[in-house]
Amino acid sequence: MLAISNWWRPSVLGLAAAIFCIGAAFAQSMPLAERIQLCGACHGEDGNSRMENIPSLAGQPEFFVLNQLLLMREGVRRIEVMTPFVKDLKDEELDALSNHFAKLPPKPSGEPIDPSLVQRGAELAAARRCGSCHLPTLVGQDQMPRLAKQRIDYLIVTMKSYRGSPRPGADTAMSAAVAGASDADLTALAHYAASR
Ligand code: HEC
Ligand code: HEC
Repeated sequence: MLAISNWWRPSVLGLAAAIFCIGAAFAQSMPLAERIQLCGACHGEDGNSRMENIPSLAGQPEFFVLNQLLLMREGVRRIEVMTPFVKDLKDEELDALSNHFAKLPPKPSGEPIDPSLVQRGAELAAARRCGSCHLPTLVGQDQMPRLAKQRIDYLIVTMKSYRGSPRPGADTAMSAAVAGASDADLTALAHYAASR
């Protein structure tokens, strides 16, 4: 809930409302390319998000995207603005979307990265063994997302939600991984991950 309330800002709201209408009108039988364009309105045309608190999808492990889309379609991971886009998708469409975004090259978001926070984040990541699941390069694998080049604001907001009351359907591994971390620690981890 935390992530959604933070994200729910008026500038984005107008866009979301407009897209919601498109989503509702064309939800049925839409060609894949058009569907991808709808996703791109929020997640970036090339899968690299330019919008605050909206994650990039480019270069995510295919299975991670598929797993999250399944959780969303089944209403387990609830993201209200995304519901109209995923609720009626067939399994083949989820496969095709996951495959598409997994193949796109990830790019840095352009948010300023602080080198001293990167260094602190590297120490924390080593101590908390983030690389044991997300891989040492933080590119992710299987159901574990890519963290490298992800948006800093999204990384922070999502780690806070794991630390608080974990999002429904989320693997409990992540709550254990960030347990007891301060806000400053999470910021440092986010700068480190985004810099990879
Ligand atoms: C109206 C904006 C919007 C549209 C359109 C949209 N999304 Fe999202 N999406 C979001 C937001 C916001 C989040 C993150 C919410 C959160 O975690 O609180 C998200 C999260 C995701 C995630 C989870 C990523 C992660 O790193 O945890 C996936 C996967 C995803 N969207 C795929 C899609 C696909 C595929 C489409 C098109 C069918 C799509 N989205 C359309 C706003 C949108
Ligand atoms: C034991 C395995 C494990 C460890 C260790 C681990 N993670 Fe994760 N992480 C996961 C899994 C699994 C997910 C996906 C959970 C879900 O379904 O929501 C995840 C999700 C995330 C996400 C959400 C990203 C997104 O796009 O939605 C972030 C951020 C993250 N991890 C950061 C970290 C950091 C930073 C560390 C070290 C402090 C860490 N993780 C350690 C398994 C792990």
